Amino acid sequence: MAKMEVKTSLLDNMIGVGDMVLLEPLNEDSFINNLKKRFDHNEVYTYIGSVVISINPYRSLPIYTPEKVEEYRNRNFYELSPHIFALSDEAYRSLRDQDKDQCILITGESGAGKTEASKLVMSYVAAVCGKGAEVNQVKEQLLQSNPVLEAFGNAKTVRNDNSSRFGKYMDIEFDFKGDPLGGVISNYLLEKSRVVKQPRGERNFHIFYQILSGASEDFLCKLKLERDFSRYNYLGLDSAKVNGVDDAANFRTVRNAMQIVGFMDHETQSVFEVVAAVLKLGNIEFKPESRVNGLDESKIKDKNELKEICELTGIDQSVLERAFSFRTVEAKQEKVSTTLNVAQAYYARDALAKNLYSRLFSWLVTRINESIKAQTKVRKKVMGVLDIYGFEIFEDNSFEQFIINYCNEKLQQIFIELTLKEEQEEYIREGIEWTHIEYFNNAIICDLIENNQTGILAMLDEECLRPGTVTDDTFLEKLNQVCATHQHFESRMSKCSRFLNDTSLPHSCFRIQHYAGKVMYQVEGFVDKNNDLLYRDLSQAMWKASHSLIKALFPEGNPAKINLKRPPTAGSQFKASVATLMKNLQTKNPNYIRCIKPNDKKAAHIFNDALVCHQIRYLGLLENVRVRRAGYAFRQGYEPCLERYKMLCKQTWPHWRGPARAGVEVLFNELEIPEEEFSFGRSKIFIRNPRTLFKLEDLRKQRLEDLATLIEKIYRGWKCRTRFLLMKKSQIVIASWYRRYAQQKKYQKIKSSAVIVQSYIRGWKARKLLRELKHQKRCNEAATIIAAYWHGTQARRELKRLKEEARRKHAVAVIWAYWLGLKVRREYRKFFRANAGRKIYEFTLQRIMQKYFLEMKNKMPSLSPIDKNWPARPYLFLDSTHKELKRIFHLWRCKKYRDQFTDQQKLIYEEKLEASELFKDKKALYPASVGQPFQGAYLEISKNPKYKKLKDAVDEKIIIAEVVNKINRANGKATSRIFLLTKNNVLLADQKSGNIKSEVPLGDVTKVSMSSQNDGFFAVHLKEGSGAAGKGDFLLSSDHLIEMATKLYRTTLSQTKQKLNIEISDEFLVQFRQDKVCVKFIQGSQKNGNIPTCKRKNNRLLEVAVP
Ligand SMILES: Nc1ncnc2c1ncn2[C@@H]1O[C@H](COP(=O)(O)OP(=O)(O)O)[C@@H](O)[C@H]1O
Ligand SMILES: [Mg+2]
Repeated sequence: MAKMEVKTSLLDNMIGVGDMVLLEPLNEDSFINNLKKRFDHNEVYTYIGSVVISINPYRSLPIYTPEKVEEYRNRNFYELSPHIFALSDEAYRSLRDQDKDQCILITGESGAGKTEASKLVMSYVAAVCGKGAEVNQVKEQLLQSNPVLEAFGNAKTVRNDNSSRFGKYMDIEFDFKGDPLGGVISNYLLEKSRVVKQPRGERNFHIFYQILSGASEDFLCKLKLERDFSRYNYLGLDSAKVNGVDDAANFRTVRNAMQIVGFMDHETQSVFEVVAAVLKLGNIEFKPESRVNGLDESKIKDKNELKEICELTGIDQSVLERAFSFRTVEAKQEKVSTTLNVAQAYYARDALAKNLYSRLFSWLVTRINESIKAQTKVRKKVMGVLDIYGFEIFEDNSFEQFIINYCNEKLQQIFIELTLKEEQEEYIREGIEWTHIEYFNNAIICDLIENNQTGILAMLDEECLRPGTVTDDTFLEKLNQVCATHQHFESRMSKCSRFLNDTSLPHSCFRIQHYAGKVMYQVEGFVDKNNDLLYRDLSQAMWKASHSLIKALFPEGNPAKINLKRPPTAGSQFKASVATLMKNLQTKNPNYIRCIKPNDKKAAHIFNDALVCHQIRYLGLLENVRVRRAGYAFRQGYEPCLERYKMLCKQTWPHWRGPARAGVEVLFNELEIPEEEFSFGRSKIFIRNPRTLFKLEDLRKQRLEDLATLIEKIYRGWKCRTRFLLMKKSQIVIASWYRRYAQQKKYQKIKSSAVIVQSYIRGWKARKLLRELKHQKRCNEAATIIAAYWHGTQARRELKRLKEEARRKHAVAVIWAYWLGLKVRREYRKFFRANAGRKIYEFTLQRIMQKYFLEMKNKMPSLSPIDKNWPARPYLFLDSTHKELKRIFHLWRCKKYRDQFTDQQKLIYEEKLEASELFKDKKALYPASVGQPFQGAYLEISKNPKYKKLKDAVDEKIIIAEVVNKINRANGKATSRIFLLTKNNVLLADQKSGNIKSEVPLGDVTKVSMSSQNDGFFAVHLKEGSGAAGKGDFLLSSDHLIEMATKLYRTTLSQTKQKLNIEISDEFLVQFRQDKVCVKFIQGSQKNGNIPTCKRKNNRLLEVAVP
């Protein structure tokens, strides 16, 4: 890759001259030749000072790349070869750095490249201004508004395949940093007649073709459209396809752009529905129908299309149908309805289509503005880009061309005003020496068109408003009357016309000599187009649509807001908006791009000299160069100039105290700028050559860098110094803190050492004291001990002495007593022998007795009668007393014991005593019975219901009731019987039944026999011959033998007053009926445990074996 050449001036490698100001010699031929030479070398841009001439190359050149953008960024205007980017950069920097609002005025014929140029300017500014997500979104929206507006507002014309059919002025707003904030678009007069009719070789607006080729089948179906262009009357068949244009792809681009700009899906949908409705309106056709009264009437041929439109837009079909057939005129509160003939119906239809489309377009602009408008309220800087339709000359020129060309006249005016006239006037005003340069001022043409009294537009309006029949011809007549004498107005019909014989000028036309050439206008349609009439019935029908967008487009259709005033005409509307635009542009710093079309064929590489020459002439470019060359490239007020460059001179830097002009003079002298290079005006300095300005700028830049360095140096110094001071201050603070800390530490150390030393000394002192105290204490102790010992010795000595004394005293007393005794005995010996012996004896005896009793009292045994203890006898002579005393005591305690018994207990003990007398030491069974209480009634006869019978039979008190075994006399076996003892009887009863078996009165019982052994057998012997004795004696055995025998004995005694005989023997005789049987008790084996067994041995013997 070749090393990129770095250009530092547009003079480097120049083809021809880059700036026409440098052209020598200056004439039309050299001018064109220079342009041609450059054009042939692909240099399409050339300067006239700061104005850019752009020649449409009709092919894409590689000069708009991002690298090119970088190359032109922040470079001086004349540094590089001429380029539209250099102008854009200059404008942007001036806006950003000098706070001047800018406008970029792009002029030229249709197809000269204005729209492209405006896009290049916008894209350059977008590329160089601030970055960031938010800013990028704003940029993207601003840029993407272009494809949308182009699709709806551009069309192919014979001059340009992408001709803007509307004027566009876009304000881009920036913040103080130069970041884009948003924008505002103004649109001017869309050429809406194109919707219904296009000249030969031209197309309708792009969007119609884009929908039909780009939309999906589905979408087309929704819009009730068919893909075939030929189905639609409004699409001229001539050039449905344009070479090199892909309508389908563009459709996608447009939809995408709409989305980016911020259209909601439903909005996009609505927009396309309106477009479809417009397209379909063209297919409604009418046929004539005559009525009886001779009035013409029209009828819709095929209602299908109408039906579909109504479905699409939500309008009642009958309403729309009626609007196409009738027209209601309101005059003085009266409504008159007239029918429309076929022509009127078509007119109504087309008017509706045009209005619908143009209002949709305005709505789009409003909607885009809503999206792209700046969100903040901060002060904004503005860069306006004007891309208005170029000057047009067609074969048939109508109202639209008239308007367009009027607009171009106005733009030329502003160019003249600002560059040619204003500049020259300024020189004069400023007192600069100046030779006037002639140029054509088109103000006269503007006046012809816009004059409020005699201007063509005023005429047209007057004609439109005039009562009576008004036609285009009456309008032309009027023009002929009023404008006939105007230099630039040509008409065949005008009085004393110069053109009576000019056959090139038809009768129905008028011609205007515009600054850019003569244009012949067909007068036909002027009145209608200016009126821009839409029957009220139609706008009301549209307002009734349920389609919200359509409803919103026709607000005047709302019957509640009926306004009988005529709306302003199209012409006056346009005039007003152009006037506002001009005012707006005048407040801004203008930057010019003058576009030139090299040929009429839209072809590359062709340079038509004649065509270019014509454009150069009417654009006044040559005059532009002349003024430029004669004049000064740059001017500036003294104060801003001094402010800007004062740093270049010592006297003026940093402050100049005198007047600004003097300061500038000093400055320029100091800089040694050649005198011919500048002039001093009254209030401004004029610099002739841009190079001088650039030199100044370069010096300033250099100086700024130096100053920056200086500032940087001072700042660095200041920063270092403040840092140093801060560090110093910090150091002091730190040092003081550290010192404090160190001193603290040191002090603490000394303090602690002092404490230690102190403590040692105190300790030493204390120990010393302690030692002294201990010594003293020991001395004291020693003294005490010594004293104690000494006292002890003293005491013992004293004690010894006292003892000795006491002993001596005792001995004296004893000796004295003995001696006294001896004396007494010697005296009383004669009395003692007679009485004393007896007295002593009595006394001694008395003493002994006393002592005996007192001792006995303490030694008394317990009160239990069975306690055998008794104290021993102390003196032999008291033996009998002692025994007697024991007996008395025993009796006494027995009585005590008895006294505590109740009568019943007494009875029991009596019985027990009886038993003891009867059986003690006689019967071996006795001892076991002592501990058993005598219960008597073992069986509870009265309580047990079993013995009720028995009880009833015995009415006496029962003493014994017990089960006994009755021994069978025959075999010695035992049977159970109930043994009852009453007061008078002994009874035996059956144990089970309770039947009394035997009853023996007590008087009949003679004897009771039993063994001496440990058994319970006993025999009850009966009185011989008594009633009961028939069966013989009873041999019984019982567990309570002792009790039974005792009770039987006692009862018998108390009843019969006779003692019952109780025989205790191991062999006794028992009377069994007639026989006497011996019952013998023997010692038996322990075979049956403890139970004695009884056996009959023979007739006479019954043996009982007792274990
Ligand atoms: N700088 C350019 N480079 C390449 N082609 C250009 C350039 N300017 C214009 N053209 C071509 O010329 C055509 C017409 O340009 P345009 O800007 O639409 O003209 P107008 O002046 O009518 O707005 C464009 O469609 C494009 O093909
Ligand atoms: Mg254009």
